[in-house]
Amino acid sequence: MVAKILDGKEIAKDYRAKLKEEVERLKKQNIVPKLSVILVGNDGASQSYVNSKKKAAEKIGMISEIVHMDESSTEEEVLNELERLNHDDSVSGILVQVPLPDQVSEAKILEAIDPSKDVDGFNPINIGRLYTGERTFIPCTPLGIMEILKHADIDLKGKNVAVIGRSHIVGQPVSKLLTDQDATVTLLHSKSQNTEEVLKNSDVIVSAVGRIHLVTKDLVKPGAVVIDVGNTPGEDGKLKGDVDFQSVKEIAGAITPVPGGVGPLTITMVLNNTLLAEKWKNGIE
Ligand code: GUN
Repeated sequence: MVAKILDGKEIAKDYRAKLKEEVERLKKQNIVPKLSVILVGNDGASQSYVNSKKKAAEKIGMISEIVHMDESSTEEEVLNELERLNHDDSVSGILVQVPLPDQVSEAKILEAIDPSKDVDGFNPINIGRLYTGERTFIPCTPLGIMEILKHADIDLKGKNVAVIGRSHIVGQPVSKLLTDQDATVTLLHSKSQNTEEVLKNSDVIVSAVGRIHLVTKDLVKPGAVVIDVGNTPGEDGKLKGDVDFQSVKEIAGAITPVPGGVGPLTITMVLNNTLLAEKWKNGIE
């Protein structure tokens, strides 16, 4: 069996075309969504991510700005900038790129984002809303993964799903979303003792660890859907996934490539959530 390639770029392209139409409709009512991104420091990968988010927002007609702060910025300086954006009525959505420099507490910063502008869904109030089932901003990578799974034509009801990696950004929220779709989810992590057995018995594998080629062909059940969230620079400087794509594609039913799989959907969902923030602000459901 050769796996269906789940082309994130194609899925994202169609989704963004629909978002662009919605932005155009809003603009006719003088409503213009705006995404503000705070970037602290000069980490190359983070700079590239935030530039992609800004470019993608502008391409669908939104306004976007990057507030680039010095690596040596204090926590107070970042909080002040955040407060300014919280109170700026022209700003629909705010995103603070993580990781932050050591002197700035991530927890304090995420807690200070106005929950109604928190398009990453990282503020504790929005995390709580996700778990109580209230309307909220769903974190962008998990939301993107669910969109890709829709395109894999898999009914998740009762299926065994293995999520590898328990991060707040991906592993934990995506486990919740998959559970909401009636999947039976096993959240694997570095201390799990039965990883191999669980993976071999999984209809879907979502890997979000950041270890190159952690998931090999011998760990995948024939026909399984494999979603690769890994995005680690390899020795050749190219980004590599958690999944050994070349071998796993021979046995999986469907698989996402890296790059061009989950990444484009994450950015798309930042745009989706920014649009939602602006709509909700204006009482549009
Ligand atoms: N760093 C890595 N992924 C993300 C993300 O989804 N949002 C933010 N703000 N920072 C990140």
